[in-house]
Amino acid sequence: MTAVESSTKVVLGGTRGGPDVATLRQDRWWIQPVITVAVLTAFVIYSTWAAFQNRYYYVGADVHRDLISPFYSPCLASNCVPGAKAGFAFSGWTLSPALLILIFPLGFRLTCYYYRRSYYRAFWWSPPSCAVSDAHGSYSGETRFPLIMQNLHRYFFYAGLAFNVLLTYDAIIAFRQPGLGLGVTVGTLVLLTNAVLLWLYSISCHACRHLCGGHVKSFKAHPIRYRIWKFLTPLNAIHMNFAWASLVFVALTDVYVRLVASGALTDYKLF
Ligand code: FES
Repeated sequence: MTAVESSTKVVLGGTRGGPDVATLRQDRWWIQPVITVAVLTAFVIYSTWAAFQNRYYYVGADVHRDLISPFYSPCLASNCVPGAKAGFAFSGWTLSPALLILIFPLGFRLTCYYYRRSYYRAFWWSPPSCAVSDAHGSYSGETRFPLIMQNLHRYFFYAGLAFNVLLTYDAIIAFRQPGLGLGVTVGTLVLLTNAVLLWLYSISCHACRHLCGGHVKSFKAHPIRYRIWKFLTPLNAIHMNFAWASLVFVALTDVYVRLVASGALTDYKLF
């Protein structure tokens, strides 16, 4: 048999794997989309539930702590629990304060280039994996509403940076133990880890790398941008890892604060 006879015919623009089979792949390509669907669905269900709870999001001076859930920070409503309130508050807001701010972190994640690739594959099967048939007959890209909104990613990135600053402030404040002085508790480390992971997720963002050095024609003329770009490039290569780690940890941080605030768990002082 010659090399030509043993090859698989491919129709350009046609169905991958041929007209009768979705794919010729024999590995377990479906594992990745299944995990993506499971983790993202669990996160959306939990975060929606937590955002509507409107309680147990702050651990305050009554137990010598200053811990706030990232889902509720900054707490911008007049109905925030005492101690959790940010400097500015919307008066007359009667719903959960989390609903005032969640659009920003949510928009940042939803429009993220990496998550887009993941949820287009996992939920829309467009396509579910490399060399596997699309579940759709046509493709319009991100040129129409609502997907054209994905182009707002850079602006959500700016908002994300502001939130990172605020959550870092929360983590620093968590070293304060009202009535006892300064110290480190498990909660302090949880808030600190959450802030670090969110920074790593943000600075490894594709838009961040492009803003810092991607559009520069000559690095020779911009040595500082070149250094920043060189620093960010390896982080950008593992953006996926930071995307998942920060997503899972932000939910775990809310779980931790919720358990301590409800009295189900004690926030142990380490030193
Ligand atoms: S590409 Fe993922 S946060 Fe920007």
